Amino acid sequence: MANTIKIAPSILSADFARLGEEVAAISKAGADYIHVDVMDGHFVPNITIGPDVVKALRPHSDKIFDVHLMISPVDPYIEAFANAGADIITIHAEATPHFHRTLQLIKSLGKKAGISLNPGTPISVLENVMDMVDLILVMSVNPGFGGQKFIPASLDKIKSIRAMIEKEGRDIDLQVDGGINMETVQGAIDAGADVLVAGTATFVGGESKYAENITALRGR
Ligand code: DX5
Ligand code: ZN
Repeated sequence: MANTIKIAPSILSADFARLGEEVAAISKAGADYIHVDVMDGHFVPNITIGPDVVKALRPHSDKIFDVHLMISPVDPYIEAFANAGADIITIHAEATPHFHRTLQLIKSLGKKAGISLNPGTPISVLENVMDMVDLILVMSVNPGFGGQKFIPASLDKIKSIRAMIEKEGRDIDLQVDGGINMETVQGAIDAGADVLVAGTATFVGGESKYAENITALRGR
């Protein structure tokens, strides 16, 4: 069975001019993880933020910083994100043929390690790293932008990965990212996801709505 549902607001949908305040507000509103989307304009067709911004945000929240690296190469930047205050560092399986090595590097720095799969990537790539990861991220949109439509085929993928985790009896977060809103959330939970990333759906309506948005997604 999946664990308690955790909500990980993606700050990609926050007001970038007031990022520190936004992170504080979403934390106070009940976020479990602060999901930080790092994009390089190379692995994905968008550019966001780097380790210095993560470091600047760190004092604004005591929540878990869940840093989603959509960058390639990735190895040269792992230490900087670790030092900046990331708690979980998630890399993409597609970003390097040596993702096993990258996961080792993350673990060697004392951080939790996550692996993410694009919608077109088969789950078989997970088989040989199940013992190394603390989090598996199923992309339910093609990464690069917030506000995209949930890809329904992601549900079968989540189910299959949930079965793998249960079969091996592992303590691994199963995270879903992209297009999570009030229409899609229940399907993702039913499929076995237990960490829900949501950008648009958590930040919509402004600060006075954040707590309500998070509670609604959590389903209680
Ligand atoms: C997409 C990012 C997501 C995205 C989610 O590349 O990884 O975290 O910001 O945004 P929504 O919830 O708006 O789909
Ligand atoms: Zn993300």
